[in-house]
Amino acid sequence: IPVAPFVLTVFGATGDLARRKLLPALFHRDLAGQLPDEAEIIGVSRRDLDQDEFRQFARQALMDHVPASELQGSEVNRFLDRLRYIAVNAEGGEGWTDLADALAGEGERIRVFYLATAPHLFGPICEQLGAHGLAENARVVIEKPIGKDLASALALNEQIGRYFSEDSVYRIDHYLGKETVQNLMALRFANALLEPLWNNAHIDHVQITVAESLGVEERAGYYDTAGAMRDMLQNHMLQLLCLVAMEPPHSLDDDAVRDEKLKVLRALKPIDDHNVNALTVRGQYRAGASSGGAVPGYLEELGSDRSRTETFVAVKAEVENWRWAGVPFYLRTGKRLASRVSEIVVEFRHVPHSVFDKSAGPIEANRLVIRLQPDEGVKLWLMIKDPGPGGIRLSHVPLDMSFAKAFKVRNPDAYERLLLDVVRGNQTLFMRRDEVEAAWKWVDPILNAWRHLKEPPRPYTAGTWGPSAAIALIERDGRTWLEES
Ligand code: BG6
Repeated sequence: IPVAPFVLTVFGATGDLARRKLLPALFHRDLAGQLPDEAEIIGVSRRDLDQDEFRQFARQALMDHVPASELQGSEVNRFLDRLRYIAVNAEGGEGWTDLADALAGEGERIRVFYLATAPHLFGPICEQLGAHGLAENARVVIEKPIGKDLASALALNEQIGRYFSEDSVYRIDHYLGKETVQNLMALRFANALLEPLWNNAHIDHVQITVAESLGVEERAGYYDTAGAMRDMLQNHMLQLLCLVAMEPPHSLDDDAVRDEKLKVLRALKPIDDHNVNALTVRGQYRAGASSGGAVPGYLEELGSDRSRTETFVAVKAEVENWRWAGVPFYLRTGKRLASRVSEIVVEFRHVPHSVFDKSAGPIEANRLVIRLQPDEGVKLWLMIKDPGPGGIRLSHVPLDMSFAKAFKVRNPDAYERLLLDVVRGNQTLFMRRDEVEAAWKWVDPILNAWRHLKEPPRPYTAGTWGPSAAIALIERDGRTWLEES
């Protein structure tokens, strides 16, 4: 079903995000028949391009990021015909009246501004949109990072809030648009089986891993100001934690879900100078090997030997409420790790007593694994009896549901869903202002405590699972990181 007619203006239209994600996502939705005839996309950037040059840029983006088999038909030209380009200096001056003219007399179409720019431009662009009368009845989409700490996030939210009311601000966390993340809600709230067990009486601990095998690539400049905590943990990983830990919302309405996530963020046990060493580990990769080839270390990629930016972080978090008291949530994320895998592991408690002989072998804990990528799916590990006529021998085996095998349909990219949700006016999968602020409130004292430490992040070899201290972090508690394969 097509969404309502819209005009989407993308600032930073010649940048990486537009090229890799936004244009391909919009094209896919067009291909699926979800863009109405009146849908229009205005690309904006500082570069002086004419219409043909911008369409050529977009065509190349599709060729690079959409499978060739989907680019055969007339749909490519139909999509490119929806595009228009206007050169605008985001911080003021040139181009704004052209943009205002292009959007004048828009009538009924839903007006969306997507700020796919460097974060320092979010404020100035909103100001210009306000000054040119373009913010009225419009929606604005911003990408993380939203600030670099609580103070800057408050200031940015304030600045945006001067021109856009909260119900027209869409703060994207693309992890919330991932198919399996949505499935987490289906698993939890569409099955009667799990909810009675979903608490500290039955769950031993939770692990959330977002491991990347790539390094910082050409983003070292940005990354060095952020690090793994600001780049991944403050947003993507805390959002995953919220979806695992939140109370059932009364519906999937925007605020119903976001209210519950906010309560989780506010219940996180504070980590500061006193416990930072016991509960967190920072790492930075050194030269090593990845996918069989030698790769340089972070400092070489950055071209500086001074940086203390962490490319890996592991945290033992706790949610201090009745449901989760005493259940650790071990989080870890990093660049240049052994493989690219993102998953949530919920490990249940052991059976209280074994009725089997020693010869049956150990009884392992049940485990629910929600795999976000690659090979999205869900596995439930159970104990069963090995087949055969002899005595009982037990095995730990998974009930394995791979989405690719079970549903032979294309898995849409997170941006496809999220972009259309903006047009639909559905904010459920977007972060509300108070959520972002609550996340910073928890993260700030950790960043401060790290700053006070004398030691730099611990080195780890590229292509491994991070510093050994991260292994010690969980093994001290008699547990171990679980890498599913
Ligand atoms: C982004 C981070 O938000 O997420 C990147 O800025 C990271 O550093 C990326 O690589 C990971 O996203 P995905 O969807 O590839 O897991």
